[in-house]
Amino acid sequence: MAEQRLQKVLAAAGVDSRRNCEELILSGVVQVNRKVVDELPAFVDPEKDVITVHGRKIQAAQKVYFLLNKPKGVICTNRDPQGRKKAIDLVRTRERIFCVGRLDADTTGLIILTNDSELANRLAHPRYELSKTYVVGIKGQIAGEQIEKIKKGIWLAEGKTGKASVKILKSGHMESSVEVTIRQGLNRQVRRTLARVGLRVKSLTRTRIGKLTIRGLGVGTFRPLTKTEVAYLKKTTQD
Ligand code: URA
Repeated sequence: MAEQRLQKVLAAAGVDSRRNCEELILSGVVQVNRKVVDELPAFVDPEKDVITVHGRKIQAAQKVYFLLNKPKGVICTNRDPQGRKKAIDLVRTRERIFCVGRLDADTTGLIILTNDSELANRLAHPRYELSKTYVVGIKGQIAGEQIEKIKKGIWLAEGKTGKASVKILKSGHMESSVEVTIRQGLNRQVRRTLARVGLRVKSLTRTRIGKLTIRGLGVGTFRPLTKTEVAYLKKTTQD
């Protein structure tokens, strides 16, 4: 396990906020492996180091991993000054979790939540990014030419997007739907890509992240990842 900032480990163990934990450290009441640590920055390995506050050993936060089927109107952030409903509020756990990446408020579907920042960083790293599949409801019909453009990649403000796979699920005059699989995770990537080729997105649902699928997970419900799934995510993001 990589070293982490001491105040972050203390906060994750529920001692206090990160800011207050910094104060605790500076006041000299925190020991790491029986030595007072009263300077910052200080780094520890929560799985190996013995950390005490006022002489009492802290319990390192247990790593937890969840898969949520996010409903519409729910946001993927831990703090929202506007007080909107947050994805973290839909997952019952005592640990301080956060979303791995983001889905727009209007997008539904799969999002991973965890307190494992190391894995989260790896999952978000362009080198390892897993495929993500979306089912997109579109206003009107979709033309073969539009599909070809999406498949090849589109120029967005950040540069050209990678290749995508696109499968038509339904093609009608009034509405159509396609399944789009991409590897990158640019902000609003699917909506912006489809807008670029002149398509109007009516609904967007993420149905798959790598091997993890939405099967059996109703909107607004969550489940813990199985050990096999966690091992798969770790293995896929190894160097
Ligand atoms: N692409 C989007 O446009 N929105 C999302 O929420 C996810 C991918």
